[in-house]
Amino acid sequence: MRIIRVDNYDEMSKKAADLVASQMILKHNSVLGLATGDTPIGMYKELIKLYNEKKIDFSDVRSFNLDEYYGISKENNQSYYYYMMNNLFNHVNMRKENINILDGKTDNVALECLNYEKRIKEVGGIDIQVLGIGVNGHIGFNEPNVNFESETHLVDLDQKTIESNSRFFKSIEEVPKSALSMGIKTIMQSKVIVLLANGEAKAEAIAKTVNGKICPEVQASILQLHNNVNIIVDKAAAKLLKSSDK
Ligand code: PGA
Repeated sequence: MRIIRVDNYDEMSKKAADLVASQMILKHNSVLGLATGDTPIGMYKELIKLYNEKKIDFSDVRSFNLDEYYGISKENNQSYYYYMMNNLFNHVNMRKENINILDGKTDNVALECLNYEKRIKEVGGIDIQVLGIGVNGHIGFNEPNVNFESETHLVDLDQKTIESNSRFFKSIEEVPKSALSMGIKTIMQSKVIVLLANGEAKAEAIAKTVNGKICPEVQASILQLHNNVNIIVDKAAAKLLKSSDK
């Protein structure tokens, strides 16, 4: 694991955007694995800036998002489809046919998940996967105790995740109780992983990810076994790391 310590959210966002941008420059048709939530919003803003400065080009880029709420349509402003269009795709020259986001309204979950895995394999796998992390150590929507061997699948959301994500909804009752998510196996097959974390609320999850036992209770702990992981943490999220953690 490579720990990149930064002072604040803006620096984290810039650093993450630089990693993604360099991947795109080195391979014009890169396959990006993308995340949603509050954490990567600044990174997307930086990527849009780099695009406007003509430093990066999305015309041949393919993307796969980590997850989507189950039972929510694309048009719903809480869907991750809506988030991605709003925060990135509407502002860059990404081709619609190159955007892959799980369909939260699918009437055949098994087929939707199987096809997603198939499409990832068809394009040669994910070159760089961006991840946030949940307060409970989840990556994607792989909640504590999900089987490490899982590929894209339907998951029940953990109570902590429901509580944490209720800030985006009018009430906690409106938060979906399940989601479609790439599995740990899918994530681990990405060539490069960039995990972003900021704020004190993530400090414990980050400490367990870096120094804890590798166990399904802390899904991100499996990343200790990946050979190209970059963890970009601001001061608050790095609070429980040892100074010797590199
Ligand atoms: P956040 O979510 O970026 O909104 O904190 C991260 C996650 O739950 O993976």
